[in-house]
Amino acid sequence: QKAPIRVLVTGAAGQIAYSLVNFIAKGDVFGTDQPLDLILLDIKLMMEVLGGVVMELKDCALPLLREIVATDDYEVAFKDIDVAFLVGAMPRKQGMERKDLLTANVTIFKGQGQALDKYAKKNVKVIVVGNPANTNALICSKYAPSIPKENFTAMTRLDQNRAMAQIAERLDCNVNDVNKVIIWGNHSATQYPDVRFATAVKNGATMIQKRGAAVIAARKLSSAMSAAKASCDHIKDWWFGTGDRWVSMAVPSDGSYGIKEGLVYSFPVICTGGDERKYKIVQGLKIDDFSRSKMDLSAKELEEEREMALSVCKD
Ligand code: NAI
Repeated sequence: QKAPIRVLVTGAAGQIAYSLVNFIAKGDVFGTDQPLDLILLDIKLMMEVLGGVVMELKDCALPLLREIVATDDYEVAFKDIDVAFLVGAMPRKQGMERKDLLTANVTIFKGQGQALDKYAKKNVKVIVVGNPANTNALICSKYAPSIPKENFTAMTRLDQNRAMAQIAERLDCNVNDVNKVIIWGNHSATQYPDVRFATAVKNGATMIQKRGAAVIAARKLSSAMSAAKASCDHIKDWWFGTGDRWVSMAVPSDGSYGIKEGLVYSFPVICTGGDERKYKIVQGLKIDDFSRSKMDLSAKELEEEREMALSVCKD
């Protein structure tokens, strides 16, 4: 019997978490032989709602789920955690661009970076889902200097999954038959979904960048179930490895493909799994002029976001 791991979900009373906590607790991410403690963080105002989520989780009668902690206290939430799903943030509303959210969210992610630094395990794996996800991850890492930078990632897997699903639909094939779809850059409208290397693709035209807006228009709420699933895919692949599949993760740039070091930028990566749980950016891809301009545009946006974010943080 494996020792339980401690998994934190922030924004736990929100809509993404409502699907996510069930996926995690039933073994979709860490395997059906891995017991876990689930720590649920939200703001004070949401504690009653969160209490309802806890009741339902218990009512799911999930054998892997040990302790459930619902809290608004950072010390309790971040203490000794192995994995953090940082979902909590102000969500994007209809017609709102991600930049409007930046100022509000930077402060949250600074505080959570400090809490990670102080309380979490030093090998904690972090996925930031809350928008603007790439820059929130950068800020979080900045304020958690005792944790390796590469442990901070942001989610572009939903964009990858959307791309794969649309390609599979168009080609009338199974989504598993689609591989090597890349999301470059920011989780925003400047992201560059790159299908040049994709296998099982005939016509690469996709509408990935605006898919989030389409879901909002239809559902009157932002993507939640698919976002929760994507965050599980991201952490599962990081935890167990990808084999030779490529997956897109926003990770701190090491200068690959001319992207400034330190920007949290979505690259195609391969995860090693094992005890080390490393990821490597896929190297040596040929970048044509069109791709270059798209990739640079998203990098430029991220540089602007970084500047804006740092000016909010001051110290
Ligand atoms: P939601 O509004 O339903 O839930 C957010 C929850 O976070 C709320 O319960 C709120 O009280 C909580 N929260 C706010 N500040 C907090 C703090 N400081 N600590 C802990 N909890 C806090 O939003 P939803 O739909 O669950 O989305 C969450 C985030 O995920 C949004 O920022 C959204 O834009 C983002 N998102 C990112 C995607 C991606 O692909 N990277 C895809 C879809 C959504």
